[in-house]
Amino acid sequence: MSRLAKALFHLRNLNKPRISYLETHLCDHCNLNCKSCTHFCPLVTEPTFTDLEQYMQDIRTLSKKLAIRTIRLMGGEPLLHPKVNDFMRVTREAYPHSRIFIVTNGLLLLKMSNDFWETLRQCHIRIHWSKYPPLKDKFAEIEQRIKDAHIPYYDGDASVFLNFSAFGSDESTDPQEAFKACHDGCTNLYRGKLYTCPACYVFRANNYFHANHEVPEGWDIYQYSGKELQSFLNKPIPFCRYCHYVVHPKSFPWEVSKRKAEEWM
Ligand SMILES: C[S@@+](CC[C@H](N)C(=O)[O-])C[C@H]1O[C@@H](n2cnc3c(N)ncnc32)[C@H](O)[C@@H]1O
Repeated sequence: MSRLAKALFHLRNLNKPRISYLETHLCDHCNLNCKSCTHFCPLVTEPTFTDLEQYMQDIRTLSKKLAIRTIRLMGGEPLLHPKVNDFMRVTREAYPHSRIFIVTNGLLLLKMSNDFWETLRQCHIRIHWSKYPPLKDKFAEIEQRIKDAHIPYYDGDASVFLNFSAFGSDESTDPQEAFKACHDGCTNLYRGKLYTCPACYVFRANNYFHANHEVPEGWDIYQYSGKELQSFLNKPIPFCRYCHYVVHPKSFPWEVSKRKAEEWM
């Protein structure tokens, strides 16, 4: 980008409504499947990849409406997507000034091709590595691989998990209180819509357990203006009344999901 183009881009961006955070799925399935996963990934029984063309349209449309401080590409396990490099490139093109992370459990990091590491470098994308107990013996090797590639990274201890209570029948949480406890929120972009949090994937639990739990409302990014989208995301949703998770967190040592409904209650 020339200096003039950069300056114009910056000016246009200054006037755009801003949200602090966005996360999005490259695929819905996972190769680890944690108990009480906040994205309900263990309940995704078929490989489910996000379509690159649809994502390109979505992220470009969004970039015309909203500025975003931090974007996290995840899933499911994002490194399972054969077009992971394209997703990274498209995201960086749409959001040249945002902080972008790829969030991974690291299981595949040692097998990734040079192209992957090169794309991270060229696109200034950082790694968020969630460190799970089963990989303990590989921690040092994985860390060395990331360092050798000179990619900035954040490693998060994932040995303790929280019970995500979005599939229960207890509606006693004060939505305002739950929303406040969520800090910057966890806005999710999924198939052309923005959602306040990953509870939007509760539809996976409905499918898996043949249930009919309420599903949070999503806002169509093609229909609404940036201001409207920002305003929807800046307040609690009725679904927050199920979310004891953030107000009274209950933790447990990480384990693999047994795909029992109680994990999300
Ligand atoms: C849903 S995962 C998807 C990305 C990738 N597969 C990974 O494991 O990093 C995104 C993040 O959410 C965290 N997470 C998911 N469910 C959680 C829970 N119930 N308690 C705490 N952290 C959770 C994971 O540890 C990870 O850091």
